[in-house]
Amino acid sequence: MKIWMAPAGLHIEPAMPADAETLARLHAAAFYRGWPVEDFTRYINDPKHTPIYVACDKSRRIAGFMILRLAGDSADLLTITVDSWKRGKGLGAALLQAGIEDLRMSPVTHIMLEVEETNAAAIRLYRSNDFTEISRREGYYPRPDGAAAAALVMRRELN
Ligand SMILES: CC(C)(COP(=O)(O)OP(=O)(O)OC[C@H]1O[C@@H](n2cnc3c(N)ncnc32)[C@H](O)[C@@H]1OP(=O)(O)O)[C@@H](O)C(=O)NCCC(=O)NCCS
Repeated sequence: MKIWMAPAGLHIEPAMPADAETLARLHAAAFYRGWPVEDFTRYINDPKHTPIYVACDKSRRIAGFMILRLAGDSADLLTITVDSWKRGKGLGAALLQAGIEDLRMSPVTHIMLEVEETNAAAIRLYRSNDFTEISRREGYYPRPDGAAAAALVMRRELN
């Protein structure tokens, strides 16, 4: 099995079917609109198209995860989430690096993502991992107050 080192005594490995509920819970705690558990189950069961990387300890307690969607020479970063208690320790960066290393021998040449333009932590994470802004999408993210927030579209080449 693939495995990557991570900070705080954790490591990163591929998601397993039994992780779906934990991933849905972590995701729902971090985003205004969560996704159904069934979506996570579907992604986990299709690792060729939607690889999921989980950061966990030896007992497999999961502190964060990242989902990619692969299509031809492009990978979309569907989501990355770190448990709020475990943020700021380098886990987000480690998840990104694990995914990037895993794609090295694949046809993928670049990674794309959208991020809410007010999400300072995520934007900093992406900029310090060589993602650059290529465009902006108005009204991309729904918000609880009814107003929609703009997204930055970011891209990183793999070589
Ligand atoms: C975005 C997220 C995944 C980052 O995970 P993390 O484990 O805290 O990230 P890291 O510890 O690896 O930090 C990465 C960078 O972000 C910076 N950062 C972390 N928290 C920050 C904050 N609250 N404000 C500004 N910068 C922050 C770190 O200083 C670091 O920057 P550096 O590389 O220049 O030193 C995490 O904050 C999260 O889960 N947020 C909620 C979900 C989300 O918004 N996901 C992204 C959707 S596009």
